[in-house]
Parts: sequence; structure tokens; C-alpha cells
Amino acid sequence: MAEKIIIFDTTLRDGEQSPGASMNVEEKLRVARQLERLNVDVIEAGFPMASDGDFEAVEVIAKTIEGCQIAALARADIADIDRAWEAVRYAKRPRIHTFIATSDIHLKYKLKKTKEQVLEDVARAVSHAKGYTDDVEFSAEDATRSDLKYLCQVIETAIEAGATTINIPDTVGYAIPSEFSQVIRTIKGQVPNIDRATISVHCHNDLGLAVANSLAAIESGARQVECTINGIGERAGNASLEEIVMAIRVRKDLLDVYTDVNTEQIYPTSRLVSTITGMVVQPNKAVVGANAFAHEAGIHQDGILKEKTTYEIMTPDSVGIPKSSLVLGKHSGRHAFREKLKELGYELTSTELDIAFQRFKKVADQKKVVYDEDIIAIVEDEIFRIPDRYKLIHINVQSGTVTIPTATVQMEVDGRVVQDAGFGDGPVDAALKTIQKITKSKSRLVRFSVAAITGGTDAQGEVTVKIEEDDQTAIGQGASTDIIIASAKAYINALNKLEYRKKRLRGL
Ligand code: KIV
Ligand code: ZN
Repeated sequence: MAEKIIIFDTTLRDGEQSPGASMNVEEKLRVARQLERLNVDVIEAGFPMASDGDFEAVEVIAKTIEGCQIAALARADIADIDRAWEAVRYAKRPRIHTFIATSDIHLKYKLKKTKEQVLEDVARAVSHAKGYTDDVEFSAEDATRSDLKYLCQVIETAIEAGATTINIPDTVGYAIPSEFSQVIRTIKGQVPNIDRATISVHCHNDLGLAVANSLAAIESGARQVECTINGIGERAGNASLEEIVMAIRVRKDLLDVYTDVNTEQIYPTSRLVSTITGMVVQPNKAVVGANAFAHEAGIHQDGILKEKTTYEIMTPDSVGIPKSSLVLGKHSGRHAFREKLKELGYELTSTELDIAFQRFKKVADQKKVVYDEDIIAIVEDEIFRIPDRYKLIHINVQSGTVTIPTATVQMEVDGRVVQDAGFGDGPVDAALKTIQKITKSKSRLVRFSVAAITGGTDAQGEVTVKIEEDDQTAIGQGASTDIIIASAKAYINALNKLEYRKKRLRGL
């Protein structure tokens, strides 16, 4: 009979460790709510000892999310475990996830400890965590570069101390599938008390093998997989949740396992994580990329028209990609708009719906057709913005072949109307420099990217900017059919987020 694979999502912890992917507490809660809709089994909500922001996020998620187990990460250290428990204890089903490195390289250079000392740390940490909750996960960091005999000894010690899940991380993405599979088989065969724990794997993607390694481990008996939405994570990222879940579903004939993931929520979740982190999904990304279900070659199109299964191994609906990207227009009413939002994974209050609908009507007046992507941009832009210190009132930009690009901007700053004008190397530069002058921001622009949300010259442009000041970064997004307005909005959104972050750091 098919066995269940526990899906442990670490988007909010390892995923958030991706360069530039940091999220604030409200954003993490939104992702957690969506992960609950996706029906993952475990949400790793953060590493409470790492920062006050992480602590707060774990605590809020533990208090709010009821449909998933909530895990908090801690080093194999008493103070870390106490802090993790303080944050996660409100969860209906809390888990403490404690880890220590086991490879010679890490022992010698990072921990400066002997193998015996690490064994003592494992026993102490796991039994301390067990004093708080029955559900304790232990990870042997850098397991795939550890001496296998020693690794087995560490695992036996962790289980003896009470660990119920044993996680085998390929921390640096070094393993290849046949080798990793053998590691899991050895653990199953050599660790005497292994039947008292679930074997989990956690693969990084440095060689592009994270998903392949995770599937190989499943074939060898692993029953929990740690993964992230869109595969985000440290360096080249983690194993991608959507790829693992869909591989299990599409190839159930070979793998004989299943997950409880609601696959129709995959696409909305991918889109949400991408929007919040500002990490764009590559068009050819498996399962959720813009081209994942696009058939370009004539021979393929012909085959698809005759019979979908000729070139499609799964359907777009099975991963929640809306059936048609052309849906609403200027004659669409509030009801159709609300239904569309539901389909896209948004549950809005009636006030929020009113605000979003008004903006939709404006966009629909400017464009002949409004695509799903446009609607997502509207909702993100209008509804999920943090309290704004800076607001754009209007912007006017002049540019051309014989004019120095000039921007005139009027804004609200702390409720006061301020305006100014400035020059730049182009219209966007002029707009952003003028906004910077008005806000007196000392931040530095470190990333600026523009994407057309939909095709055609009337497409909405989505601008993403990243700014930095005193080691704090913020990502802002803005959408409009006018690229300069989208840029100004994105920049102001980032400035507001940075202000918000600075305020929180000052404890205000
Ligand atoms: O990659 C890793 O080893 C980790 C552990 C903390 C599980 O993220
Ligand atoms: Zn990791």
C-alpha cells in the first residue's frame, strides 16, 4: 500500500535565507496561511534565536495556524532550544528542530569539537527539547560529508535521547542520487533503533540535484522531505516543493507513495512567495514557470490539439494554473471579480474587495482585456501594502530626444503634502531621484527590474526594486500600465518597507 510522505516546508526559514528574500512578520504570516491552504504537513516558521523578527514570526504563526504542525529551529544548545520553545509553544502541534554538524570539516574548523563532544551535545540537546515537547527533530548538518559510521552513531544517540524525526541534510548540495540513496539505506540497515523515528531528507541544490536526491531518498525509505516553494533557499536553494510533490503524483506508478498536498494551491503559493520575496520565477522553471505548459513547436501544438497527453504529463489545472489567462474585461461585475479572486487564492474582506474592484475598473478602462496576472498585481498593490509613511500623489515626467529628463513629484510625507522637481539620466532615474530628494532617504538602490506582466504594448509593467541602508534591505513592487508610475510606486513601496523595518528595530 502507498505510504505517506510528510511535506516539511522550510520556505520561511531556509527559503528566507536566500540572498534578498527576507520577509517581515506580516509577510511571513501571509505565506504561512497560504501554506496551510496548500496543506503541507509541517511549516518551519523560523529560527527564533537568530533575531527578534524571527522569534516574533514563529510566535505569531504558532498562535494563528492550526492546520499544520509548526516547527522552530534551534542549534544543539540549551539557550537556543529554550528560545525556540518560547516562540513555538503556542502551536497546536509544536515541533523543536535541533541541529549540529557532524562532518570532520565542520567539527574541526567550525565547531572546534571532538566527535565525543558532539555526541554529548546531541544527547543533551535532544533530551532538553524532549522536556518541552514529544515532537523533536534532529538534523545532522553536513551529513553527506560525514563519516557514515559516525553519522549512524550520532543518529542512534539522538533517537535514544527522544528524537522522533531524523533529518539527513545534504547541506552543501554535494551528493549524487545513487550515493544519497545508499546513505539512507545504510542508516536504515545499521542504526539499531531507527524504527523509532521517521527518516527525513533536506537537500540543497548546488549541483542542481536537490529534487533528484530527495526522490532517491524516498525510494530508499525516507518518509519526510524538507523543501521550499520555488526552490528558494541558501545559495542555489533547496529542493523545490512543487517539483517533489508533482513528481510523486505523476509517477505514483513507480514511487508508490503520496502526499496530502492540495496541488491546486501550488501556483497561487508560488506566485505569492515570488511577489513577497521579489524573487522572480524563471520562465522555464518546472511546474510553475510561465512556459511550463506553453507549447511552441508546431508539431507539439498539433499533438496537443489532437490529444493533450501527447505532450502534457500533468494538466495546468492540477497545479492551480487558471484555465484561461484572458478572463475579465471592462464589463465584468463585482461578482465575477470576487470569483476570480477566489480562483487566484485571495480571500478579501468586503472593504478590501471594494478597494480592489475600484482599481480593477480603472485598469479595465485603460486595457481591453485584464489578465489574471493583472488582477494579482492589483490586489498586491492595493491591499497588501504595509502602513505607508510616504504616498505618491502625482508624478509628471518629461523626456525625449532633445529634453533633459525631468520629473515633478508631489507626495504625502507623514500626512504633509511635499513637492519637488529633479533631473536624471532617463525618466525613471529622474523620478526616483526626485522621490529620494523629497523623502531625504539615505538608502541605496541595489536592484531594479521590470517585467511585462502580460503581453502587448498595453501590458501592465511590474517593477521590483531593492534598496539598502545600514545593513537593512527592503524590496518594493509596483504595477501600472505606465512604467514610470510603476517604478515610482515600487520605489516608494520599498522606502515604506524600510521605514517600517527601521521602526520595528527601534521597538516602535
Ligand atoms: O542545510 C542544512 O543543513 C540545514 C539544517 C539546519 C537542517 O538547513
Ligand atoms: Zn538547509
